[in-house]
Amino acid sequence: MEHYQFSYESIDSIDAVPAADAALLRAAIAATSLAYAPYSGFQVGAAALLTNGAIVLGTNQENASYPVGSCAERVLLGNVALQYPGEKIKTMAISYRSAKRASDQPISPCGMCRQALLEFEHRSDAPIRLVLGGETGSVMIIESARLLLPFAFTPRELGGQP
Ligand code: THU
Repeated sequence: MEHYQFSYESIDSIDAVPAADAALLRAAIAATSLAYAPYSGFQVGAAALLTNGAIVLGTNQENASYPVGSCAERVLLGNVALQYPGEKIKTMAISYRSAKRASDQPISPCGMCRQALLEFEHRSDAPIRLVLGGETGSVMIIESARLLLPFAFTPRELGGQP
């Protein structure tokens, strides 16, 4: 039998998180107010620290035609690609606020966003650290988004590409 395992860090509260990561998570928490989520009431905020020191935000953007909506993470990746072409993402923090539940534990990116994060890691040749946390409660730190998507479909599978 084969096994897939990965390690991640779990920290009891945002107050115990290293300062730079805590600041990024607080930026993600603040960004939830910029979400457009009238249908789900689930407002997601993401904040990325780039290698040039810039911070770029993303929030979910929903639509009356529900499948048209975009997640915060993919909105953020598009923002980075356009605002800072070629720049790498060091760390991405993700948080949320919901009308239906407390924001008191981490959420992790949906499957589609994991695929998009992985592609960004490939194209920029750099791991994206993830800092996941609610407004309160524990915080998870994962060293690379690719760890969340084992056996992923990548450009290599298409052949003739790096
Ligand atoms: N959503 C995100 O923005 N990111 C995630 O990682 C999970 C889900 C959004 C999509 C939708 O607008 C709302 O949260 C509820 O699924």
